[in-house]
Amino acid sequence: MPDDASTLLSEIRLHGAVPRHVAIIMDGNGRWAAARMLPRPIGHRNGMKSVREVVEAAIEAGVEVLSLYAFSQENWQRPAPEVSALMSLLEEYIAREAAELERQGVQVRFLGDLSRLAPAAMQAVNSVTAKTAHCSRLRLNLFVSYGSRAELLDAIRSIAEDAASGTLVPDAVTEATVSNRLLTAGCPDPDLLIRTSGERRISNFLLWQIAYTEIYISPVLWPDFDRRELYAAIRDYQQRDRRYGRVTA
Ligand code: FPP
Repeated sequence: MPDDASTLLSEIRLHGAVPRHVAIIMDGNGRWAAARMLPRPIGHRNGMKSVREVVEAAIEAGVEVLSLYAFSQENWQRPAPEVSALMSLLEEYIAREAAELERQGVQVRFLGDLSRLAPAAMQAVNSVTAKTAHCSRLRLNLFVSYGSRAELLDAIRSIAEDAASGTLVPDAVTEATVSNRLLTAGCPDPDLLIRTSGERRISNFLLWQIAYTEIYISPVLWPDFDRRELYAAIRDYQQRDRRYGRVTA
């Protein structure tokens, strides 16, 4: 581990209050490739290396849940060769990493509209999900074909159906009723949301879940994002004063 990363990790451990749940909007693969006159899929391929490093770094820091936005519902509208390169990369990532993820104690889950995945991708997803189901050191949520509004609509529909059938009365609908019907049910809300490449947008990611999340914008393009960058974001988080709308005691 580079010296500055290990110094940051020691500081993180000294200052306690590690974010339990870190969510990341991985952005900038295309610009990383363009800056090197390379095709966009090469940027995504290098982004896959950052995924590997950040998973390891999250475990070392003591993060419990890591949520990565890998492919949005809107991403289906990218040119077919790019969509297909991203899907192949997902299959490759699973094939290469499944055994190591299990060894590291990473429970992998895929959240999103998986009905749109091709059979081979779906098979890979199911296999790594089953293989790592018993792991409990880190939960890795990979958001694929995901959109937060669609996720909320599904939850709203299911609440409306239960209300219509009389199994749920409107007064009994609480925040927990909604949270428990989202794909992230059972996970704590993210404490820290990181977006790379300097963009300042939420892009339809975890709209309900990030109500009180601390946001960190990194100028670094995703393929250059490494453990040092993750630790710098966590150190920044540790210096925030989280008030949840109240005043400091
Ligand atoms: C955003 O960069 C990134 C994506 C749409 C894909 C993210 C995918 C990976 C990091 C690699 C594969 C991941 C796994 C888990 C196997 P962009 O293409 O929007 O970049 P740009 O804004 O610079 O064009």
